[in-house]
Amino acid sequence: MSLQERANFGSKLGVVLATAGSAVGLGNVWRFPYVAGQNGGAAFIVCYIACIVVLGLPCMISEFIIGRRARSNTARAYRRLGGRRGWMLIGGLGVLTGFLITGYYAVVSGWCLQYIYASLTGRLHGDPQYVRDYFTTFETDPLQPVLCTVLILAATHLVISRGVRRGIERASKMMMPTLFVLLLLIVATSCLLPGAERGIAFLLKPDFGKVDGDVLLGALGQSFYSLSIGMGCLCTYASYFSRETDLAGTAVKIGAIDSVVAVLAGLMIFPAAFSVGVEPDSGPSLIFITLPNVFHQAFASLPLLGDAVALLFYALLSLAALTSLISLHEVSTAFLSEELNLSRHRGALVVTVSTAVIGAFCSLSLGGYEGLQLLGWPLFDVFDFVTGQIFLPVVGFLTCLFVGWHLPDALVREEFTNGGTLRGRLYGLYIFCVRVVCPVCIVLIFLHQFGVV
Ligand code: PFF
Repeated sequence: MSLQERANFGSKLGVVLATAGSAVGLGNVWRFPYVAGQNGGAAFIVCYIACIVVLGLPCMISEFIIGRRARSNTARAYRRLGGRRGWMLIGGLGVLTGFLITGYYAVVSGWCLQYIYASLTGRLHGDPQYVRDYFTTFETDPLQPVLCTVLILAATHLVISRGVRRGIERASKMMMPTLFVLLLLIVATSCLLPGAERGIAFLLKPDFGKVDGDVLLGALGQSFYSLSIGMGCLCTYASYFSRETDLAGTAVKIGAIDSVVAVLAGLMIFPAAFSVGVEPDSGPSLIFITLPNVFHQAFASLPLLGDAVALLFYALLSLAALTSLISLHEVSTAFLSEELNLSRHRGALVVTVSTAVIGAFCSLSLGGYEGLQLLGWPLFDVFDFVTGQIFLPVVGFLTCLFVGWHLPDALVREEFTNGGTLRGRLYGLYIFCVRVVCPVCIVLIFLHQFGVV
């Protein structure tokens, strides 16, 4: 496709909703609440928001600059701007990271679909042990979770193959407002439960005594993941932005939406959990094991309302997962169709089939077929670790060096200010963060997770 023909988003709202759709995902509703729960609630949230501002936004703007300037898939964008083939490696690693994540992200997204079905058919009733067994039996089944993975990838495929405007933009304009309405409905119901105040206080009253290096670094990692940084998504979507899009302004809006959704997700879960005396730090199993119990107990006198809330919750989770999955899928689809000259349909099909195979292996490695291990770890955990803890920080770090130190300052400033039509008062602060603050922070997170600092 030539530069002139390249697809783009049709409106400012489309840009914001599609990009927010990428950012708002399982990271906000699934990961954020339990990480916040384990790290002291409100104090963690304050650190998290600080990380979004200092680290997340500059990295996001940098990916926007690369994508919009080069108007091509992520791998080609780095090469085009960098001037040498070698730079393609950074973008290529971003595409690879996005591709691998699509597979295992689809597995957890598929679980959300199964839980819609389970709450619709009243299968989440029973004592805590029953709910735990329900999840483990499902997760280790060789067929069902794989089917759910394929189903959610098929939905993603449908949207992607319709193109940028008719597919991604239109779907985001329908799904994101629905997601907000569901979120507010559940927050209101949860906050009205007796004893909910303790959950609200836990989430909103900071206790800075709990903040230590671990909490800070946890907040840094979470802000990165939650804003979809380092996986080619932001760069790919920005290649569909128009020349008039205010990149810094858009990044601020996405950061704000993403943080508000994360805090609201906490307000959905903690008041209900506290109202039935459940500890909020129960880890990754929080939403699939603890939460069905919480809903069941909290609405014991009105079981139908309990079922309805559970249903709305898993519908919300599936929507959030789907919009993120769409952005991940688009990274590889754009790459394949532009680099191999495939039609969009063909490119999308190759990505859907190959990520479904990866997803199936990841899913089976959790119990359906335990031989799928590497160094004693299930394949699912290997993918999670390699992409999230290694590739993601590496791409983020190299991107900062690329924009901060390699690209000409005039080019970066021109994109930041849309060729001088915006004032760009924060440019100095932005470029300082990209050159110094972000690379240092990323190296710290990286070393910390291997126990070096
Ligand atoms: N930001 C998404 C979330 O919080 O769930 C996850 C994600 C989507 C990460 C897309 C990276 C990405 F490229």
